[in-house]
Amino acid sequence: MGERVWLREVGPRDGLQNEPGVIATEIKVELVERLMDAGVRFIEVSSFVHPKWIPQLADADEVFARIRRRPGVELSALVPNERGLARALAAKVDAVHVFMSASESHNLKNINKTIADTYPVLRPVIEGAKAEGLVVRGYVSTVFGCPYEGKVPVSQVLSVVERLFELGVDEVALGDTIGVAVPTQVAEVVREVERIVPLDRVSLHFHDTRGMAIANMYAGFAAGVRRFDGSIGGLGGCPYAPGASGNVAMEDVLYLFNGMDVETGIEAERYLDVVAWLESKLNKPLASHARQVARSACQA
Ligand code: HMG
Ligand code: MG
Repeated sequence: MGERVWLREVGPRDGLQNEPGVIATEIKVELVERLMDAGVRFIEVSSFVHPKWIPQLADADEVFARIRRRPGVELSALVPNERGLARALAAKVDAVHVFMSASESHNLKNINKTIADTYPVLRPVIEGAKAEGLVVRGYVSTVFGCPYEGKVPVSQVLSVVERLFELGVDEVALGDTIGVAVPTQVAEVVREVERIVPLDRVSLHFHDTRGMAIANMYAGFAAGVRRFDGSIGGLGGCPYAPGASGNVAMEDVLYLFNGMDVETGIEAERYLDVVAWLESKLNKPLASHARQVARSACQA
């Protein structure tokens, strides 16, 4: 048996939360359905956060209600608190993603709480989701650097990871929120995290602000990680992290793993058709390498 990776699409959430305008609900629904058709099995659809904080995703409830579900596809959403969990349960999410940061300042800006005050808020969310039999993932943001504090000590990352597992998450996702990591740092952080949790419970979430995301993903793969996030067209960014830009483009991730003969379960050609479709809906060129290659091939 060859190698395989588990890829989670975060474009509908991380991608669209950072678009300047609000995208129509029917486009969001069609995007998720097209991604499922291309073989994507893990999709982060939206966020049940406060609509004033992220107006782009204020229609999360409606998006979930309108998606025609497929068996074997996990649809997830960000959930910051019990109010969000009630909405997420009503929407019948398959997985709940709680989130916090490894640095105090970003945690405060993003969710209006200190790190210490966040755990009591997340505890009932995690317990409530587990009681419903849902998968729970815990994002840790600013793992590789914070827009307000600079480099974040690995000890801070480990402390948050450890606490999230104590609270009951099934997995953690380590986020390079502002795209500052380099491959040696990724290898070091993965090695440290592996001391406290097996790597099949760890995923990596890279933003590509400085063009390092694919190199970082490879470093994570070489260190033993098999779960990665990507975003269609390289869309994404956190509105509460100045300087954050898009996630690594899923179509470039597919090129990487297909080229390495690593199974992804996603059909790259069909996925690229979804990228072209989304480009037409957003009325702007999407900046991934794979999309640029496809566009120039059409023109040749
Ligand atoms: P707050 O103002 O401190 O909330 O915001 P609160 O608990 O004090 O409640 C204030 C009011 O909001 C109340 O209403 C609540 O009911 C309501 P009132 O009683 O005054 O009428 N409220 C809600 N309404 C709807 N849905 C809810 C909800 N919660 C409270 N869920 C809060 C705290 C966490 C809610 C806010 O700060 C927030 O929504 N933040 C979200 C920020 C965000 O989404 N950031 C982007 C995602 S993170 C990211 O992108 C990083 C990631 O990609 C990984 C990486 O790249 O590293 C994941
Ligand atoms: Mg992100």
